[in-house]
Amino acid sequence: MSGPTALDAAPVWVVVVAAGSGQRFGGAKQYATVAGRRVVDWSIDAARSVADGVVLVVSAESGQDPEPAVDVVVVGGSTRSESVRAGLAVVPADAAVVLVHDAARPAASHGVFRAVVDAVLAGADAAVPVVPVVDSICDTRGDAVDREDLRVVQTPQGFAADALRRVHASRPEATDDASLVVAAGGRLRLVQGERWNLKVTEPDDLLVAATVLEQR
Ligand code: CTP
Ligand code: MG
Repeated sequence: MSGPTALDAAPVWVVVVAAGSGQRFGGAKQYATVAGRRVVDWSIDAARSVADGVVLVVSAESGQDPEPAVDVVVVGGSTRSESVRAGLAVVPADAAVVLVHDAARPAASHGVFRAVVDAVLAGADAAVPVVPVVDSICDTRGDAVDREDLRVVQTPQGFAADALRRVHASRPEATDDASLVVAAGGRLRLVQGERWNLKVTEPDDLLVAATVLEQR
């Protein structure tokens, strides 16, 4: 038997947010089936691979069966930020690292979860997977924007637990939590994201996710 690891000393919890209504998809996309399982099941599995505990945040009207694969299930709010706070509220006080992951990203790998946790254990307040922009980009007036300066932000995002709790205390609204920690002066570490860690947003995205997951 091996001795205690760094992870034993620094409990890692993951909040998987699954309380959205999927307006653009046309329904609760987190419960759609992809590669033989629900989108949310893939997300929970990847989260479990690094976590001491997993919190699943669902909507009051999800109508789904109980979730044996997670430690706690809570009801979210009407915005993503409200749902993150609902999840954070039930993360145990001794958690040192908290990750927030979109249920709608079923293709995030164990490797990206691991990289995010490691970046926080190495001292980041926020660790975010990003990928380069592959298309040419312009603004709404048609003026070119240099894509070399831009990155696409993904989840899982990892945080020093106290930094995440602190920024959420004032109940801010944001589509991504790392931007809140950075605005509060926290140390950000960008880690390498994955091109195919897409967020299921419209029905066609399931075709891509299925292809990615089936060839694992
Ligand atoms: N989410 C949540 N609570 C909300 C809104 C979103 O937990 N009130 C979750 C979604 O379930 C999803 C993730 O946040 O896993 C990313 O949000 P998004 O892709 O925007 O999902 P939806 O809000 O459901 O989709 P839409 O914006 O098209 O309605
Ligand atoms: Mg949304």
